[in-house]
Amino acid sequence: KNIVILISGGGSNMAAIAHAAVQGRWAERFNARVAAVISNKPEAGGLKIARGLGIATAAVDHREFAAREDFDAALSREIDKHAPALVVLAGFMRILTPGFVAHYAGRLINIHPSLLPAFPGLHTHRRALEAGCKVAGVTVHQVTTELDHGPILAQAVVPILPDDDAAALAARVLTQEHRIYAQAIEGWLAG
Ligand code: GRF
Repeated sequence: KNIVILISGGGSNMAAIAHAAVQGRWAERFNARVAAVISNKPEAGGLKIARGLGIATAAVDHREFAAREDFDAALSREIDKHAPALVVLAGFMRILTPGFVAHYAGRLINIHPSLLPAFPGLHTHRRALEAGCKVAGVTVHQVTTELDHGPILAQAVVPILPDDDAAALAARVLTQEHRIYAQAIEGWLAG
């Protein structure tokens, strides 16, 4: 079972998943492996990390495509070279077209840094602080055509502390992202 991870930036979630695949012996237990890491940004730092881990990488630069559909088609051609059982969005900062989502229905998941359905979209930590929330967190969910709204697979809660700013809260949430994304994928593989 090939897992393809899509990133746009540093790829810390991708790295956590790649390490969990080794620690959790996914190859032996589930015949599963991280087959490729693909980014819409050729300069994404996570591509270097993936290469360092011996994982195949590719970049499909969204700036080369006029239409969103053309980018998504090129991206799925690259993904499908690996015949993925699961496509994992990890810090992937593109809104995907309904055609792309339909093509990977049931095997496309995402991680979002809030307790959905609260705070879909961007700047989730600043918004939670502005709303006076006492807790924040992270959600792993199936991707549907409605942004940040698919069936929830896993969530984790973190406290918001009195002197938190967005950066402090983001760091606390990111630690939980790394933990529950790998756990959710392992649960999916074992399911
Ligand atoms: C993180 O803030 C995460 O919440 C969101 O994308 C950001 C970068 O993630 N999913 P990563 O370090 O590139 O995995």
